Amino acid sequence: MTDTFPGNRFLQHSGARYPLIQAPMTWIARAPLATAVSKAGALGMLETSSSDIEITRREFAAIRAATDAPFGVNLPILFLRQNEAMEERILEFLMEQKVRFVTTSAGNPRRYVERLKAAGVIVYHAVPSLEGALKAEDAGVDGLIVEGAESGGIRNAEEVNSFVLLQAVRERVTLPIVAAGGIVDGRGMAAAMALGADAVTMGTRFVASHESPVHANYKAAIVAAGVDGTMMLPRPPRAKMRVLRTRASVAMADGVETQGRVSSVIEALYVGGDVENTAGSAGQSAALIHEVKSVQAIVDDTLSGFWQAIDRLAALRGQHAD
Ligand SMILES: Cc1cc2nc3c(=O)[nH]c(=O)nc-3n(C[C@H](O)[C@H](O)[C@H](O)COP(=O)(O)O)c2cc1C
Repeated sequence: MTDTFPGNRFLQHSGARYPLIQAPMTWIARAPLATAVSKAGALGMLETSSSDIEITRREFAAIRAATDAPFGVNLPILFLRQNEAMEERILEFLMEQKVRFVTTSAGNPRRYVERLKAAGVIVYHAVPSLEGALKAEDAGVDGLIVEGAESGGIRNAEEVNSFVLLQAVRERVTLPIVAAGGIVDGRGMAAAMALGADAVTMGTRFVASHESPVHANYKAAIVAAGVDGTMMLPRPPRAKMRVLRTRASVAMADGVETQGRVSSVIEALYVGGDVENTAGSAGQSAALIHEVKSVQAIVDDTLSGFWQAIDRLAALRGQHAD
């Protein structure tokens, strides 16, 4: 077997075969999706934003039972802090289980870093800004997930896209970087790596996979979305949220309708398939997604597309020897 991605720090940290992570998405990033991603050689991620230890235990055990491949767990700090007893039980459970790779998001990672690292866990923190990246580095994280404004889900109010954000963080930080936002295939992966990333994350692409548990209408809406198919909504007090442009999201942006709770989006859209009366999260990357595919096909096509992109760029050298 050839040694691809030699010296890649993300692969050393995670144990995955490919430098590709599935984003931790509330309700969606549970055993069926994470298992399929890890089996395909990328890194599946389990979300814990329900703050429910029983769900975390159940889903964690289901992934472990289904595959020996490595997977990671996300700790959304702000959500978990709302229930400190559960937060503590989830942390203890993960350390007991000797989880190897954790990502933290939405909050200050300092809260967990020391404890997790003392237990031998690798911690990457998701940041939407250069300031956040510098703070996370200072808190002692092992790596960063750098989320550009193209990304689906909750975003920074100051919108900086990946093209600038990745380079700005790379200029100032030596930690491994995982790029998030706007990536659905090997072209995007090669571009992110050219800008300084060591690995990439995909969220919206995996929502529109066969193994994703959401309603077929939501996947179809992602496939149908064009380049203007998403929009930002305010997410008080300080954030924004990138969602599909639907009747309801336009009404919410105009202040005619109020935004629903996450649980109502899960019920109405993820389970019920009502696209137009909800504001479901999606990245601008939806414009680049043209069919619902299996997780295996997404991972395989991304890797083959990546090497094609690298070969195409290498060919630009021609006979130039310098
Ligand atoms: C449907 C959906 C739900 C998401 N939910 C979460 C979440 O619960 N926690 C989180 O940290 N990020 C969440 N995100 C953001 C992803 O972690 C990631 O940053 C984003 O999907 C990357 O952009 P992309 O969708 O263009 O690949 C979500 C994204 C999507 C599309």
